[in-house]
Amino acid sequence: MDIQFKEVGYAYYGFKKLYHAISNINLSIDEYGEFVAIIGQTGSGKSTLVQHMNALLKPTSGQVNILGTIIPSKKKQKINHLRQKVGLVFQFPEYQLFDINILKDVEFGPSNFKDTKAFANQYAKEALSIVGIDESLYEESPFRISGGQMRRVAIAGILAMKPHILVLDEPTRGLDPQGKDDIMDMFYNIHKSENKSIVMITHDMDIVAKYAKRIIVLNEGKIVFDGSKEALFAHKDFNTFHLDYPSPMKLLNHLHETLGYPKKMVFSNEELLTYLKEVNK
Ligand SMILES: Nc1ncnc2c1ncn2[C@@H]1O[C@H](COP(=O)(O)OP(=O)(O)OP(=O)(O)O)[C@@H](O)[C@H]1O
Ligand SMILES: [Mg+2]
Repeated sequence: MDIQFKEVGYAYYGFKKLYHAISNINLSIDEYGEFVAIIGQTGSGKSTLVQHMNALLKPTSGQVNILGTIIPSKKKQKINHLRQKVGLVFQFPEYQLFDINILKDVEFGPSNFKDTKAFANQYAKEALSIVGIDESLYEESPFRISGGQMRRVAIAGILAMKPHILVLDEPTRGLDPQGKDDIMDMFYNIHKSENKSIVMITHDMDIVAKYAKRIIVLNEGKIVFDGSKEALFAHKDFNTFHLDYPSPMKLLNHLHETLGYPKKMVFSNEELLTYLKEVNK
């Protein structure tokens, strides 16, 4: 199964007129095995797009098929289960923490769904362990821990529902470099060990280059690119996408221009290092 967008558009009601945030979106994301980065300038429609993936927003034109459930439907339909199957982590999810202690906060999500209710406590503990929150903090208020820990607790609240697909809206925003690496390693491990599909909005091209298998670029509410990173960074229209190159590629480009190093696509510092060792032999 998958998430399928067919000619999807969404318009917000602005002051006196409609604002078309996304239009004519066609795409399909498999339930398993994908790691998709959604990128594009601020205001290009990324958050609007991903909020259709668990029916938080319903298209104003076209159709989204979420793992077999068609949105919008003419009849009244139950869509609650979609919130469990497709776990959406908002931008700054820590703002949504609310309960008196960390464990209760994380148990809240799974306790709302039939197939996870009986296991809420167990799933919450498992999720807290995945995000690296120690048992000694279970009884602590979610408001008396650091910002980075709050982000982890909020993410655990989604993981505890055992979603099939994880949708993350800028999960590394505002974290320090170590915090970013830790959280990205965590998502990568989830993706690798459970084969869960991950859809991630980010402005960080280094993260895109290191982790994404597939990249979708939005520009003014439309998909202007959907494909591999090799294809993206070699694209003839790359300059029109308003994107930056990842830093290992920038460094190698610089070495190419100043010292004549042969060009190559390198997606991480490790790849750059291997390449430099190779050419300097
Ligand atoms: N609730 C809303 N009401 C009216 N317009 C909105 C609303 N939310 C977003 N928009 C508009 O829709 C467009 C797309 O917004 P969206 O939040 O999807 O962009 P984005 O790509 O996620 O941006 P960013 O990178 O800044 O998070 C923007 O021009 C924004 O002003
Ligand atoms: Mg956004």
